[in-house]
Amino acid sequence: MKLIKLASITKKLCIGALGAFLLIFLPFHMGMNFCILRDDGGEWYRNVCHFMGTNYIVKVFEVILLACVLLHIVVTIIVTIENYKARPVRYAVPNKSKTGSGSKYMAVTGGILLVFLIIHFVDFYFAKVGLVEGKYVVKTEKVEQAFQEKAMKMQQGQLKDEDLQELQAQYMAIQTMSQDKVSKDRKYFVNLSKEEVQKYCGKEFKEYEPDFYNMAKLKFQSPLYVLIYLLAFIALAIHLYHGVASIFQTFGLNVKKYTKAIDCFALIYAIVIPLGFALVPLFVFLTK
Ligand code: HEM
Repeated sequence: MKLIKLASITKKLCIGALGAFLLIFLPFHMGMNFCILRDDGGEWYRNVCHFMGTNYIVKVFEVILLACVLLHIVVTIIVTIENYKARPVRYAVPNKSKTGSGSKYMAVTGGILLVFLIIHFVDFYFAKVGLVEGKYVVKTEKVEQAFQEKAMKMQQGQLKDEDLQELQAQYMAIQTMSQDKVSKDRKYFVNLSKEEVQKYCGKEFKEYEPDFYNMAKLKFQSPLYVLIYLLAFIALAIHLYHGVASIFQTFGLNVKKYTKAIDCFALIYAIVIPLGFALVPLFVFLTK
């Protein structure tokens, strides 16, 4: 692999640049998540997720982001293995320097974050790309439109018997639908399983999106799940504190007169971001 042959400094710059990109993503993601805290039945969060899932610029950004996450992990693992191999004899006296202990924490917290990201992706991102089943949301307007089209065909005698039966079953299902499946503003059917999407919208209906609002709310009902997230946010805080300072150092920006300011910025960032993320599972769990 060519990457392995890159000079050590290039790899360090690579980790730094990818890390810096991820640092920009986190406040965006945190801000988005705050919409879950609004008592609006998920209206704002649904709109943000719809925008994120359909806007082409965001889609390009998402590919770059995922590539950065992956590269950041791969390059870091390569550098860690190389450093380990380059120092086969362990030091007799443990390294107590700030950088030494920082790197040690980076490896441990990075490992915890990797496990967290796998769980997080399986829960949310995999549902979006259809690898696991999640909960779904559909616009009532779209369902009505599809229903009207079929009803027209029925009037013109163009529907087969089985389609006619499906249309009648769909009508009955919508009439008897429980109220918790309808959004506050009545513009959406929410919290639907794939089976329910077919039941309420018809078998060929494809215009559904993941209902991240209800998926997140459901996940954060579980104390174990909240605990896993909170532990990950503690790891994130430690990882960010060292990571932010380290990025400045990698790019030679850690000039002596700014050391205090950089350390202060790293500390504030490493507290505010994980704390902001932690608010969502805590709030959902405590107000369930
Ligand atoms: C309360 C905490 C969090 C919640 C509720 C949450 C929720 C979500 C949801 C719903 C998605 C899918 C959005 C979409 O694809 O449109 C997502 C994607 C993602 N999350 Fe989180 N997240 C949380 C914390 C984090 C943290 C701490 C990290 C990073 C350390 C993270 C990294 C990502 C990444 C990389 C993606 C995929 C990129 C994307 O699709 O936008 N998330 N998250």
